[in-house]
Amino acid sequence: MESSKLLLSFLLLSTFKFFFVTCTKFEVGGTNGWEVPKNKNQQFYNQWASQNRFNVNDTVYFKYKKDSVMEVTEEEYGKCHSTHPLFFSNNGETVFKLDRPGFFFFISGVAGHCQRGQKMIIKVLEPEIANPPQAQNQKHNSSALGIMPTYSPTILLLMILSVFGAFSFQFSLII
Ligand SMILES: *[C@@H]1O[C@H](CO)[C@@H](O)[C@H](O)[C@H]1NC(C)=O
Ligand SMILES: *[C@@H]1O[C@H](CO)[C@@H](O)[C@H](O)[C@H]1NC(C)=O
Repeated sequence: MESSKLLLSFLLLSTFKFFFVTCTKFEVGGTNGWEVPKNKNQQFYNQWASQNRFNVNDTVYFKYKKDSVMEVTEEEYGKCHSTHPLFFSNNGETVFKLDRPGFFFFISGVAGHCQRGQKMIIKVLEPEIANPPQAQNQKHNSSALGIMPTYSPTILLLMILSVFGAFSFQFSLII
């Protein structure tokens, strides 16, 4: 009895913690991975990116064979060429952390691949506009409001459950 309650509280508290540190890992290009788009679609990766919402600290995962990933400046993205990329990886499985809001520019480092559409712009949302339902109906003035985290109803419910679970556990220890 005691131990099952302990387990329950532990599970609830770990759920609680999980939702606080959670970040999304996006698999670039879905099942295609990171490669020269097959259908000569220059915008293949930008279309993929526009279907997702990226928040600060989310990660993008590039899976590829005999290729590479470079994070470059906007200018280098336009030229499809960089001699000193901001980031470079060619190990076949690259996890890149989107550690700030704003734009990230990615191109393949293999000659000719970027020109054939293996390039992508990712826009990471500002933290305060990451949850549009709340942001929309409120005046954008209070800076305190912008910093305050906002949670979806599901997460709120889990938070309440976690607190409740911890409480009932302590209560049962008292009686
Ligand atoms: C992103 O992660 C860093 C380091 O882990 C942390 O300091 C920062 O507060 C996080 N930012 C957001 C918006 O979650
Ligand atoms: C909004 O903020 C600006 C400056 O940040 C201030 O001048 C203005 O009075 C504020 N408006 C309201 C409605 O609080």
